[in-house]
Amino acid sequence: MKRLSLTIEYLEYESIDELSAEDKSLMQQAHEAGNTAYAPYSNFSVGAAVLLENGVIVKGSNQENAAYPTGLCAERVAIFSAAAQFPGVAFKTIAITAKSSKISVSNPVTPCGGCRQAISEYEVLYNKPIRFLLMGETGKVLELKNVGSLLPLRFEAKNAFHAG
Ligand code: THU
Repeated sequence: MKRLSLTIEYLEYESIDELSAEDKSLMQQAHEAGNTAYAPYSNFSVGAAVLLENGVIVKGSNQENAAYPTGLCAERVAIFSAAAQFPGVAFKTIAITAKSSKISVSNPVTPCGGCRQAISEYEVLYNKPIRFLLMGETGKVLELKNVGSLLPLRFEAKNAFHAG
């Protein structure tokens, strides 16, 4: 038996103003995307903006449904849209933000487990790290260098379908 451990490194910025011009613009686009959320049930509007390797930015927002589980998170709306419109183009960075009409969202929003897994698929597919920029409506920004930082020991097809 061996005892192992994993360390996750990430950066914390005091505010969006500490980001590079490119990252700040991507985060601003995530904020804009949040305005297109359809979130009448949770009142929690999430916006995501994905920067592709070809320089294109694809935005997404959460889309809810009266049958609750049928809705989709902003991150998956954005990445599936990007993958469908630009097949074969790797993802560089995804900026995610959230706001609510009910509470003040001043802590960075972190993607749900399902979205982490969905984003992981494209990191593996293109063999390029996908960087994360996370923030609330206001406040600090977190930067993570790849999906592994959010989803260590993730499930990958190569360990399941191509094992042995
Ligand atoms: N949501 C996202 O869009 N992204 C996340 O990472 C977490 C949650 C959405 C789903 C639902 O519409 C609302 O936020 C409340 O959970």
